[in-house]
This record gives sequence, structure tokens and C-alpha cells, in this order.
Amino acid sequence: MRLFDTHCHLNDEAYQGDLAAVLQRARAAGVARMLVVGYDLPSSQQALTLAEAEEGIYAAVGIHPHEAAAVTAADLVRLEAMLAHPKVVALGEIGLDYHYDHSPRGTQQEVFRAQLALAREAGKPVVIHGREAHADLVAALKAEGDRYQGVMHCYSGSKEAARAYLELNLYISVAGPVTFKNARKLLEVVPALPSDRLLIETDAPYLAPQPWRGRRNEPAYLVAVAERVAELSGMTTETVAELTWENGAACFGLATEDAAV
Ligand code: NI
Repeated sequence: MRLFDTHCHLNDEAYQGDLAAVLQRARAAGVARMLVVGYDLPSSQQALTLAEAEEGIYAAVGIHPHEAAAVTAADLVRLEAMLAHPKVVALGEIGLDYHYDHSPRGTQQEVFRAQLALAREAGKPVVIHGREAHADLVAALKAEGDRYQGVMHCYSGSKEAARAYLELNLYISVAGPVTFKNARKLLEVVPALPSDRLLIETDAPYLAPQPWRGRRNEPAYLVAVAERVAELSGMTTETVAELTWENGAACFGLATEDAAV
């Protein structure tokens, strides 16, 4: 069984002491591909450095809505340069977060739209973070295009909202909360997702699935997400693993096999 963790932050300081062991456990669990996602310029650079050093690791570079207020024009130029790297397979994570409102909403929207335009110019997919901002997210996406290559990461919205993203051609990625007892909305969303639009992720170090809830998350725990998605969708875990591997390859423009070294 091979698994693709399409969203993790191995560039987070949470892994400073034991990254090699974390990677080893991931690979032992079958997690052969990981997309390490940036949230500001330094973390994006770290994702890229990691991707250059490790087989099966890819990078996404981008500026999270939390950091939008600090973005300068020069930052966007640097992002654009990083996007040209062959192991940078996506721009992200970008989006809107009205739960924390760490940056003013208008600024979040401007920075989101500027990065959507960058991704389009570079021909790279987008990794989108949305929290309590569905209507404005869809409005911004529709203002910048009508079909996207990319993913709604750590999806937590309704079935109706999912439909709007699917219509924009986006993938929907399911993370650890699907294993939580109170995951009511996700229980409805997951079985309704078209199997060719489904991705899975850990969002490590956050949101560890059961039975690790509350602890530091890591890519090896992706198996628990695959198992729960399989249960909810009436598929085997192996089918979910293979399906999401192939969808991940299609979403991020990767071959379905890694070249032998
Ligand atoms: Ni994330």
C-alpha cells in the first residue's frame, strides 16, 4: 500500500529534533510521498530545501492568510522565483481565514487573489485554506478564473459548499478530523465526494487523527485517515490509498511512479 500525504508541515519547528525518525516512520507506514507546505517565505524556503534533499518529498510555496498583512511586492517576486523550481509542485497554502482574522479581510482577499494570479501564470496548482469564509472564497476564485488545478485542503465545510469547489474543478482533501467523534459534517461530505476528486492529508503537526488526537501529528498517521475514509465510503483502505495516490499525482502534475534511483 502506498500513500500520498498531500499536506504536511515538516518544515515546522515541531520536527526540529527528530525529522529523520519522522520520515522513517512515514515511509515504514507506506507514506511514500509527502507535500510539504509553506505558509510564509521562510517556511516555503524550508519546504523547498527539504524537497531538494529527499526523494518523495515535494514543496508548496505560498503565503497563508494569517501572514497576509505583512506581504510586500518583493515577497511576491521571490515566491514567483521559487515557483519555477521543479520540486515546487504547487502554490500554497493560500486562502482566507475569518476565524482568526489575523490579517484584515480586505488584505487577505488581495493577497489571495494576487497569488491565484501568480499560480496561473506559473501554470502550477493551488493549495487553498478556507475557514469561515466560504462565500468570499468562492467569489475571489470566480473573479480570478472559472477552472482551477488545485485542492481545498483540510476540508471542514458542508456538502453544498463542497459542490461549489468541485464545480471550480478543485479536489477536496480530508484530514484527521474525519476520525473525530464530532465530525458530523464530514460524515455527510466524504461519502458524497466523487472518487476522482478525493485527496487525503495529515496537516501535521496539527490535527492528529484518533487515537493520537491532541498529540503532535506526523505523516505516518495518514493511515488512520485512509481507514476512516474507507469505512465512510464503503471502500477498502487499499482502494482509498491507491485512489488518493493517483488523484494526488494528477492534481500536482506528478508521474504515478517515482523514478528508480
Ligand atoms: Ni496547513
